[in-house]
Amino acid sequence: MTDGKKMTGEVYYPAPEIIEHAHIPDYDKVNDEAVADLPGFWGKIAAENYEWYQPWEMVLDDHNAPFYKWFVGAKVNIVHNALDRHMRTATRNKAALIFEGEPGDSRVYTYQQLNYEVSKFASVLRALGVSKGDRVTIYMGRIPELMIAMLACAKIGAMHSVVYGGFSTEALLDRINDSESKVLVTCDGAWLRGNIVPLKQIANEAVARAGTLQSVVCVKRTGQEVEMIPDRDHWYHDLMALPIADPGAPTEVMDAEDPLFILYTSGTTGKPKAILHTHGGYMVGTSTTLKWVFDIKAEDIWWCAADPGWITGHSYIVYAPLILGATSFMYEGAPTHPYPDRWWSMIAKYGVTILYTAPTAIRGLMRFGRSWPKRHDLSSLRLLGSVGEPINPEAWKWYHRVIGRERCPIMDTWWQTETGNFMITSLPSMPLKPGSGTRGFPGVVVDVVDEEGDPVPVNEEGYLVIKTPWPAMLRTIFGDPDRYVQQYWSRFEEQGWYLPGDSAKKDEDGYIWIIGRIDDVIKVSGYRLGTAEVESALVSHKAVAEAACIGVPDELRGNVIKAYCILRQGYEPSEQLSIELRDHVGHEMGPIAKPSTVDFVESLPKTRSGKIMRRILKARVMGEDEGDLSTLAD
Ligand code: WTA
Repeated sequence: MTDGKKMTGEVYYPAPEIIEHAHIPDYDKVNDEAVADLPGFWGKIAAENYEWYQPWEMVLDDHNAPFYKWFVGAKVNIVHNALDRHMRTATRNKAALIFEGEPGDSRVYTYQQLNYEVSKFASVLRALGVSKGDRVTIYMGRIPELMIAMLACAKIGAMHSVVYGGFSTEALLDRINDSESKVLVTCDGAWLRGNIVPLKQIANEAVARAGTLQSVVCVKRTGQEVEMIPDRDHWYHDLMALPIADPGAPTEVMDAEDPLFILYTSGTTGKPKAILHTHGGYMVGTSTTLKWVFDIKAEDIWWCAADPGWITGHSYIVYAPLILGATSFMYEGAPTHPYPDRWWSMIAKYGVTILYTAPTAIRGLMRFGRSWPKRHDLSSLRLLGSVGEPINPEAWKWYHRVIGRERCPIMDTWWQTETGNFMITSLPSMPLKPGSGTRGFPGVVVDVVDEEGDPVPVNEEGYLVIKTPWPAMLRTIFGDPDRYVQQYWSRFEEQGWYLPGDSAKKDEDGYIWIIGRIDDVIKVSGYRLGTAEVESALVSHKAVAEAACIGVPDELRGNVIKAYCILRQGYEPSEQLSIELRDHVGHEMGPIAKPSTVDFVESLPKTRSGKIMRRILKARVMGEDEGDLSTLAD
């Protein structure tokens, strides 16, 4: 790769000093070693970089594939590696988290302080009756207590289930019920563009209808009056002031394969599914990928601008940076508040060295022109990153030129909630092509294949597949192992390949170009939504008999949702009703799920078995060939 061989297309070669500085200066060498002996490769990394209470008997157990197991027999806790062990070294006094709130307030937690808060909250959760294996739902804004709550759960062996703060009542209720959570941790409100998102009020509506929930813990953030239900609801600061909040709380000894968390994500059909990750493999995978891809060093200030409520935040705000003993920056609010240079001013203020964000954010900031970033000293930046959807070359180049000042390589990382960590990605030492995810992370064998599983010709579209297991892979869908097998492993069952649900192309240089989802998942502003959930929100409105949603390309947001509704008798199509339906989805599901348009139709294209053929709707909007219509009912 780096031997000067001429590559096709537009290529940005890395500067020699970047290669020299990188943890992995030679991708091919490391990848070859890894692929030749996966257990040997991961076993060595695991032994050298983490503390285990007890070592493993076997690195990879694939006897019961696709129910893979990693570090079998080992005892560990991810929090021991993210916090406890740092208390014995100079890392104790280092900033773990630098936080800036939207109103401009700021807080710094050293590793010592973070550990203190996490330990106290862990014992509070224990006092509320939470124990190993229980589920805790967390529904908060982007504030340090969100991270503290997640780590406190992990410390006592409870599974957190974080629900993104942009979701609303129905989405929250479904996730509390499906996970059978005992406790909900929330906050009074979250700051967004100078307004308060009333999280506690939304939570109250959901919890009133939730079956298993016993207690609610509420963090005071925005300070407005909120309704607290006696006996059920407690203020976080009250609990943390009680003697039960023990800073010496012990960390639970877990099996490497014990669950760490569940995180709901949208799939091909039906309700969101709870993706399950474990303590051992996830710890090794997330931190190794962060270290190598973003070349994390002791002096860095790492800013992953995602929300902790999505996998990107779980892996790369909460767990991986702490395991590496790095310093993270977190910002609460909107990038354009109060002005479009909020991000750039914070990079200069805190000396951020690595920025990792989504193409939609880059496109959004690009709109305001280069004068805003130009006002600020961005010279601390040395690496940039992108995630969540394909990055269009125009946005890539703007990011590279205007933000990275042509010095900072851009790591385009393709991965999923299910994969736990980066899977297809560039490394700082690799030549970059704007818009390509580059190659598989060392040890991750990826390919683009046809229906039969044969590789498609160069530059032709096919199914993206992953041919090798990896430590941070999902273990199952919580409560639904059959669906786990069906969804990810049945398409290429014979070969034993993982199916991510994306289509892609591979070019002459073996570089992967992600095209998009092949199923009913829509990526809106990088957020993953399922058509099924939006449709079910629509039909919960009294006027709607049936609904179908599709994603259509949008310059700014990647995709937007277009909805089609068949009305019940007695209702007439109108602009007013269209607005009402959009607001209804916003209220039930959250603002990101709001369709951009609602069309009223008399019928929907369906298969003879009654399934809506969304691909036909999409082909019509896009003016494309409608394809095979043989299964269409009429
Ligand atoms: C898409 C987000 C192109 C893809 C980490 C995948 C991307 C889905 C990229 C997973 C990228 C993610 N280039 N597409 N760099 N990263 N995707 O679970 O369609 O929210 O299947 O995880 O996002 O979304 P999820």
